[in-house]
Amino acid sequence: MPTVAVVGAQWGDEGKGKIIDLLAEKVDMVARFSGGSNAGHTVVNPQGEFKLHLVPSGVFHPGVTCVIGNGVVIDPAVLMGEIDGLKARGVAVDRFFVSDRAHLIMPYHLLLDGLEEESRGKGAIGTTRRGIGPAYMDKVGRIGIRAGDLLERDTFREGLSQAIEQKNRIITGLYKAEPVKLDEIYDQYCQYGERLAPFITSTDLMVAEALEQNKKVLLEGAQGTLLDIDFGTYPFVTSTTTMAGGACGGLGLGPLRFDGIAGVFKAYCTRVGSGPMPTELLDETGERIREHANERGATTGRPRRCGWFDGVVGRYSARVNGFSSFILTRLDILSIMPSIKVCTAYKLDGETVVDPPYSASALARCEPVYEELPGWNIDITTARKFDDLPEQARSYVKRLEELLGCPASVISVGERREQTVIVRELF
Ligand code: IMP
Repeated sequence: MPTVAVVGAQWGDEGKGKIIDLLAEKVDMVARFSGGSNAGHTVVNPQGEFKLHLVPSGVFHPGVTCVIGNGVVIDPAVLMGEIDGLKARGVAVDRFFVSDRAHLIMPYHLLLDGLEEESRGKGAIGTTRRGIGPAYMDKVGRIGIRAGDLLERDTFREGLSQAIEQKNRIITGLYKAEPVKLDEIYDQYCQYGERLAPFITSTDLMVAEALEQNKKVLLEGAQGTLLDIDFGTYPFVTSTTTMAGGACGGLGLGPLRFDGIAGVFKAYCTRVGSGPMPTELLDETGERIREHANERGATTGRPRRCGWFDGVVGRYSARVNGFSSFILTRLDILSIMPSIKVCTAYKLDGETVVDPPYSASALARCEPVYEELPGWNIDITTARKFDDLPEQARSYVKRLEELLGCPASVISVGERREQTVIVRELF
């Protein structure tokens, strides 16, 4: 299968970093298509433990070309820090490219993300405050600054001065905060431009060429389907298309190019930030999962909300993405549980529903209907084949296959690359 998208199927943090690092071994190109430095992909491999926010998790494989597509919003300071950090630890960042069409996160986006969140009060989304929403707002508002603009200084200065004029009216008028300064930002971003110039190119052409030559391309998603701007738990979502379809617009790729779409699910659910999560466990079971699995945000360090696997949003996620298979991560965490619950339906205002309601407030009223499965209570981190898993763990995976309506392809049983069960090859 030459072109496979790997996307988050829940609320992000499903463990995509490990999976992409693992699958990258078999591909020629890893292309990231959405999100920004709100993402935090943790990778543990023979070179150490890394937390990546922007650079695709394929960077650890010397032969692999890594691409940040036009659908990503880039904070140049974060990107340069990440490149420097990787190089300092001996990871070569030489086959790495950034789309000239990718929009940039500017200092006023970071400022506005904070000001907007504070003004929302109790209704705050709990954003990562990385400027994501304001940057995408400027993109669709047609006053964004793109990576390629850094290479054309006159165009850049003109665009920047227009944007800053508008932003300062909002910053000073609406939020009564200090205005941002054109010259300061211009000089700073020109310096970024000089450093990033060797990486900036038309990545859409590179992806097209790779596909023409029948190369294997992994399309790397960020965040998760329940954070998608259209199909997530709006307004408690991120500002981009996190679903597989986002790879088309986010890289310049026709939909007929997909050979497979794999949804990454954690064996239970987590969420950071506000918004409904029907299976959230506010009791000691939730606390046990959080502590045992060290469920803290890779970007913000916030404790993640933990709960049982939600088969209702899972099936929905499989439907709106069109998953051809699913990847299950952190199955080993459930080894501590005497029994495991899976949500198969919701009770909403006295009715049983099997599809999530469209509104966040209705979803918040949904009571999960659980099915209880036996736990296995033994260490599974050494399993390498499906049959190495205890019968109860296999039954759990099979039940998820039924609920999601697609087969499992990969099961992760530990953080290291080799702690993986390949059920069917993706590439
Ligand atoms: P933003 O993307 O920073 O605007 O945040 C919007 C919502 O998405 C918040 O609830 C964040 O916690 C959540 N979010 C953004 N990125 C991630 C991620 O990589 N993992 C998990 N949640 C995320």
